Amino acid sequence: MQATQTTITLGQTELQLAPLGVGVWAWGDRGFWGYGTTYGIQDVGEAFVASINAGITLFDTAEIYGMGESERILGELIRKTGAPALIASKFAPTPWRLSAKIVASALDASLYRLGVERIDLYQIHWPFTLIPIPDLMHALADAVEAGKVRAVGVSNFSAAQMYTAAEVLHKRGVTLAANQVHYSLLQRAPEANGVLQACRDLNATLIAYSPLEQGLLTGKYSRSTPPTGPRFLSSLRYNWDELDRLLGLLREIGSTHGGKTPAQVAMNWLIAQGSVVPIPGAKNARQAHDNAGALGWSLTPAQIEAIDEASHGWRR
Ligand SMILES: NC(=O)c1ccc[n+]([C@@H]2O[C@H](COP(=O)([O-])OP(=O)(O)OC[C@H]3O[C@@H](n4cnc5c(N)ncnc54)[C@H](OP(=O)(O)O)[C@@H]3O)[C@@H](O)[C@H]2O)c1
Repeated sequence: MQATQTTITLGQTELQLAPLGVGVWAWGDRGFWGYGTTYGIQDVGEAFVASINAGITLFDTAEIYGMGESERILGELIRKTGAPALIASKFAPTPWRLSAKIVASALDASLYRLGVERIDLYQIHWPFTLIPIPDLMHALADAVEAGKVRAVGVSNFSAAQMYTAAEVLHKRGVTLAANQVHYSLLQRAPEANGVLQACRDLNATLIAYSPLEQGLLTGKYSRSTPPTGPRFLSSLRYNWDELDRLLGLLREIGSTHGGKTPAQVAMNWLIAQGSVVPIPGAKNARQAHDNAGALGWSLTPAQIEAIDEASHGWRR
């Protein structure tokens, strides 16, 4: 059995990384994730170390996560441990930000909170904005020229928006390294809406967010024990019978690989699509360690196909 690649290149950049990262939205975010209640700084610090020890170096944050707290925590952990982490962060094009000129000051504020001089991957968080995409791309290219950013990406962009972004960047001698979108076995839209194909055409990486569907694909939630808080509402979108059938298949396939969990099988499947890097959130060392178990082995072609068929309904 061939094992998943140990290292990939982010888009056409010089950045080398494992084909799995860590999303750190939950590090410092109280409102959605409950930081400071069931888990805190000690737990996320241990999650950071467990990830690094497993060879996972990409950490995805954003200026809006925990109102800057996620960037602060990540920066502190990197400084404290000296770990060779790659930082991905994001600019939030909120409706009150009316000009791309604001990108430069938002980036400086992120650099300050992170305590670093350069961000490895700087992304535009979403496209719904009054600032035209070309203006944002010029601002990103300026940031690369200023040495404050190594690679640039977008998030939640459609295929058409990606081509627009890539064309503007190309004229400035910069490549579009990544589009970060929602992609999981329960959210296969990037295959149907052209985003996965656009990533392949442009040699960009698809960074898959919420790859565990915010915990549902771990198998720990069920009809009788659904997630609580804001995640309860989003869980209502799913039919538990269909989800149970899928989880059963993931367990069965996982058992043929020495007891891989549904989460590990679900992420291995995403990686098998090629040019996809899932960034699961992890609140503690146990979750980080579990998630790292998605690496180092590969599903067989027949298993990839069986999972494809079983989750095809979520391709819409
Ligand atoms: N660009 C965007 O618009 C956007 C949007 C959303 C997310 N993101 C990025 O994507 C990252 C990941 O997405 P996400 O956090 O929404 O969802 P996710 O990765 O699908 O789920 C993460 C949650 O699942 C649970 N979990 C994770 N690993 C587990 C394990 N091994 N065993 C049991 N439970 C486990 C944890 O919550 P519990 O323990 O509470 O169940 C964890 O917080 C974010 O941190 C962020 O960086 C980006």
